[in-house]
Amino acid sequence: MPDLKGLILSGGKGTRLRPITHTSAKQLVPVANKPVLFYGIEAMAAAGIREVGIVIAPETGGEIRAAAGDGERFGVSITYIEQDAPLGLAHAVLTAEPFLGDSPFVMYLGDNLLRDGITDLVEAFRAESPEALILLTPVPDPHNYGVAELDGDNRVARLVEKPPEPRTNLALVGVYMFSAKIFDAARAIEPSGRGELEITDAIQHLVNARMRVDPHVVQGWWKDTGQVEDMLEANRLILDDLIGKTEGELVDARIEGRVSVEAGARLERATVRGPAIVGAGSVVRDAYVGPYTAIGEGVRIERCEIEHSIVLADSTVEGLQGRIEASLIGRNVRIGRSPALPHAYRLVVGDNAEIAIL
Ligand code: DAU
Repeated sequence: MPDLKGLILSGGKGTRLRPITHTSAKQLVPVANKPVLFYGIEAMAAAGIREVGIVIAPETGGEIRAAAGDGERFGVSITYIEQDAPLGLAHAVLTAEPFLGDSPFVMYLGDNLLRDGITDLVEAFRAESPEALILLTPVPDPHNYGVAELDGDNRVARLVEKPPEPRTNLALVGVYMFSAKIFDAARAIEPSGRGELEITDAIQHLVNARMRVDPHVVQGWWKDTGQVEDMLEANRLILDDLIGKTEGELVDARIEGRVSVEAGARLERATVRGPAIVGAGSVVRDAYVGPYTAIGEGVRIERCEIEHSIVLADSTVEGLQGRIEASLIGRNVRIGRSPALPHAYRLVVGDNAEIAIL
């Protein structure tokens, strides 16, 4: 078999993570202070893949290039592939055909996270050489995913994209392995009801042509970080494995449990209860940061309490009375009290934001 290549899909629109993704790519939103996309690149590197193509959209591609660069620091070589419009996962595969050539490849959706990586699965694919290997996992809300039906022999019988009435609870995980046969399948299908060339339909085409499609049920956790709740949950799951370290400065501060205080961060008269991360150059003063919180770089948290939340770089939260929780706060956001009268809420909030006040 020629050497496996990697393909990461980081185009698309990211509508469900708005307003965060009005200004940046959803694959760059950090989980435990690391962009979701980087977990995928690292998983590929760990599985021994050296050539990785990243599909990007014209609007957010520049940002993704700037973040991931040429891939050297991950131990891979990255080629960027621009997809003119988000016309579906199978369309993205066709766009990447000149890069992939006739190599078999692993496709990884840039907003997906798998705890156990892909190394074992890549080995199974290399050893067995099916035309496709798909990952499945039971979920409580299968209508949000591609859904698989297996037959009595555990072979793939039917795959349907986001069925309103799913026949099983087995969702397609966003990691797939293909031989070059997938290109003809992607060319043979028609756009779906949502106007996209679905990879689910292309795989069904392989099944219909009696080609070998191996299903693997994934055991460890898996997250599609397409929505805010999923992002917070992914953050919680990654922080569960955090190793604490203190590279910043502590002044009358108290750390409980596993906390990573990054270089140049400063905790002053603060309590941070892990697992939590305080990013480089951030200040936590007269404040409480609770479990499952990731504070990005250059953030200021002052005279307030926050837990189970993600705060992105360069934001300020200060002087609030209640505790903030289960929140995703974007970049360069300011949340605080105003001394001016009349006492009233004053908000400058982007489109599609959500604010819940006591
Ligand atoms: O997360 C697993 C699910 O991913 C599967 O269960 C579904 O079968 C599969 O269709 C896919 O569903 P989503 O609706 O979640 O896909 P989404 O539009 O979020 O796109 C996934 C990634 O691919 C995301 O990082 C954006 C990128 N993308 C998407 C499209 C439609 C592209 O690069 N180009 C595209 O044209």
